[in-house]
Amino acid sequence: MTITPQAFAEPGPDRLAESARDHLWMHFTRHSTFAAGGHVPVIVRGEGAYIWDDQGRRYLDGLAGLFTVQVGHGRQELADAAAMQARELAFFPLWSYAHPRAIELAERLAAEAPGELNRVFFTTGGGEAVETAWKLAKQYWKLVGKPMKYKVISRSVAYHGTPQGALSITGIPAAKEMFEPLVPGGFKVPNTNLYRAPEHLRADPKAFGLWAADRIAEAIEFEGPDTVAAVFLEPVQNSGGCFPPPPGYFDRVREICDRYDVLLVSDETICAFGRIGGMFASNDLGYVPDMITCAKGMTSGYAPIGAMIASERIFEPFSQGTTYFPHGYTFGGHPVSAAVALTNLDILEREGLYDHVRSTAPAFRASLETLLDLPIVGDVRGEGFFYGIELVKDKATRETFDDDESERLLRGFLSKALFDAGLYCRADDRGDPVVQLAPPLIVGRPEIDEITSTLRSVLTEAWARL
Ligand SMILES: Cc1ncc(COP(=O)(O)O)c(C=O)c1O
Repeated sequence: MTITPQAFAEPGPDRLAESARDHLWMHFTRHSTFAAGGHVPVIVRGEGAYIWDDQGRRYLDGLAGLFTVQVGHGRQELADAAAMQARELAFFPLWSYAHPRAIELAERLAAEAPGELNRVFFTTGGGEAVETAWKLAKQYWKLVGKPMKYKVISRSVAYHGTPQGALSITGIPAAKEMFEPLVPGGFKVPNTNLYRAPEHLRADPKAFGLWAADRIAEAIEFEGPDTVAAVFLEPVQNSGGCFPPPPGYFDRVREICDRYDVLLVSDETICAFGRIGGMFASNDLGYVPDMITCAKGMTSGYAPIGAMIASERIFEPFSQGTTYFPHGYTFGGHPVSAAVALTNLDILEREGLYDHVRSTAPAFRASLETLLDLPIVGDVRGEGFFYGIELVKDKATRETFDDDESERLLRGFLSKALFDAGLYCRADDRGDPVVQLAPPLIVGRPEIDEITSTLRSVLTEAWARL
């Protein structure tokens, strides 16, 4: 069936939502909700920290789209950068050729990346960057004479993307089970959820951090150091609801990776570009990985791009003879996206947004922590402009909701109620139920207060309905 442009020229109030229901296959979406009469939310416009739907209603964007719109919506400067680049050179691949914007962007990322991470391989998003990092690790070890090092270690409940390799690295069984068997070689260790840490370690974050890091060493020993290629970790783990690294965690992880000759990949798909404070979160948290994967905030979402940034050590065997990395993407490092990224990095610097996140984060956290007086709020955690609020049935015992309650609470009520109350954010149960917040980096006290007061009224109602 085809739809005539005329059908869109004179839209009825629900015309777009109805067409979305009938034709648009949405990502990670239960379509039965819409077939049963649910209204597809259609977002038509954005300005600063706010978005508007097709009914003219305004929402505070509490998730920066999807952890992406760092500098806020509606920036003319970014639209102009895209248009100018499209006029000058709309497309050229990076397959044995280069173009100015990819070169400039690579140089700029390398200048800010920690250590000797100077080699930038562009992709179109985070999952491709993760996929690229694993493939590169495998080839690197073959080239340096350790061909059996192919396995990867990552953490429970962590999300690293949907390509089959990245999905193997992902630690969410429900996201994987329909696609098994996946790429072999993915092994999981505990994450750094202090709230759910073994009881004897909860009061001592440092001891918990060392314990959690040592689980990586244990997994390497169990699998055999000669078979393990890399460890993939987010600086602050998103999925499960924002798990920051306890003190000493990354120092110990780095030491373990060096001890066993295993590469450390910092998956900064969410955490880079100011989300934690700096351009790269590994700098914020004080560790030097062997590779960084990043995407999302690089363009503030105005155009798609991702990158895998590798150290000189990893690049070295690829710089010789006939050796090359047989891997790439048509749209990796797209000129329009690279031009937008450069302008976006200019804005982040010019407007002092890195410093703004650092100086405003304590107030953001303190505001959210006022919600801890609600019986349903068990924990508030995170860093920078990146927080998770864990919901519990019993604060004293930290008992979580069963599947039915979780379904009723998160899917049946909370997501929609928050949205109806004017706050776009995410209620997530990939681990224990959490509300996730990661607004554009331009928000200040008024928006933070608005987030907290909306959460307070909706979470109060959620508790009453349980
Ligand atoms: C840590 C992490 N890695 C990888 C990805 C996948 O990125 P993309 O959706 O751009 O493929 C995500 C997406 O949210 C992510 O959070």
